[in-house]
Amino acid sequence: MNIIIITGSAGLIGSESVDFFSQKFDLVVGIDNNMREQFFGKDASTLWNKKRIEKNTKNYKHYNVDIRDEKGIEKIFSEYGKDVKLIVHTAAQPSHDWAAKEPFTDFTVNAQGTLIMLEMTRRYSENAVFIFTSTNKVYGDTPNSLPLIELETRWEIDPKHPYYKNGIDEGMSIDQSKHSLFGVSKASADLLVQEYGKYFHMKTACFRGGCLTGPNHSGTQLHGFLSYLMKCAITGTPYIIFGYKGKQVRDNIHSYDLVNMFWHFYQNPRYGEVYNAGGSRHSNCSIIEAIKMSEEITGKKMNYSYTEQNRIGDHIWWISDVSKFKSHYPDWNFRYNIKDILVQIYESMLNRV
Ligand SMILES: NC(=O)c1ccc[n+]([C@@H]2O[C@H](COP(=O)([O-])OP(=O)(O)OC[C@H]3O[C@@H](n4cnc5c(N)ncnc54)[C@H](O)[C@@H]3O)[C@@H](O)[C@H]2O)c1
Repeated sequence: MNIIIITGSAGLIGSESVDFFSQKFDLVVGIDNNMREQFFGKDASTLWNKKRIEKNTKNYKHYNVDIRDEKGIEKIFSEYGKDVKLIVHTAAQPSHDWAAKEPFTDFTVNAQGTLIMLEMTRRYSENAVFIFTSTNKVYGDTPNSLPLIELETRWEIDPKHPYYKNGIDEGMSIDQSKHSLFGVSKASADLLVQEYGKYFHMKTACFRGGCLTGPNHSGTQLHGFLSYLMKCAITGTPYIIFGYKGKQVRDNIHSYDLVNMFWHFYQNPRYGEVYNAGGSRHSNCSIIEAIKMSEEITGKKMNYSYTEQNRIGDHIWWISDVSKFKSHYPDWNFRYNIKDILVQIYESMLNRV
């Protein structure tokens, strides 16, 4: 029997993974305790998505277990053992702002939870492929020291810089910068995932996401950039831009395109790999560009304001260079760009809000 374990299975990337991999595995084991609601309030609950998955996916089994519960996680792994062929670990506290409120919760969920998942994989399913959704915040604020120029609607890197063509690659240091506590807890997990690959020779990989997005995000002010922005555009909720004149650039990758990366890695895995995984030059926007596109899609003016204070750890310009992944897996490519993504979010959000 071929089994996949997905943590955070009711979240954006977890649920996309359930949809994608339920066609490819006999059983999908999902672990999610809806902690997103505890982090960000009722609006951010992922229960609606859990119900959707349970209704639509016959070979799905849900466990309402906290990834920090070592005994609970061990029980799941001991039950399925070597039948587990793939672990997609997405459960996390995902916001930098929130992390500073409860550093213990942030660190135990992100770092210790990942250690528990890795160790249980090693004990019970050592040949399985282990995929971790890391983040570009492991690079801290180092990207903010790149030579940037101001254009009318966005910041852009100096065209003479080597990152201009494809974006920032995995060679950037993760050391000696300000990360936010979230960036630190994720960087700890990222290193653990690499180490289990290098030290124990396990098939592990970190996908360092830019903005991950898609119609099934439960967007909220502190997390889920495009999803939250579109929610505000539809409902007229005031949206606040934090610093950098709203010209900060983020690349946005559709959850499908990211999960399709996981699939390519799974079929031909490597050991302790690291990939930048974002929309790259193919799919990106500044905040004010995203506002303009959302207004065009909804046909309504957005109600937004600007505050000078930027978010700690926010990048002014982030474009992921995905060419390392493409060189390892040349058959993979993007399916969706920023416009497709916004339209999809709009259509699904209309039914939800
Ligand atoms: N969304 C982004 O822009 C982005 C960018 C870079 C990296 N990431 C990373 O990608 C991953 C997935 O992000 P997402 O946007 O799908 O997040 P999400 O919040 O939509 O999904 C995460 C899910 O994990 C669950 N969860 C949280 N803590 C848990 C715990 N202790 N035990 C069990 N379940 C728990 C939540 O209830 C939620 O349903 C995260 O690891 C995040 O750090 C996200």
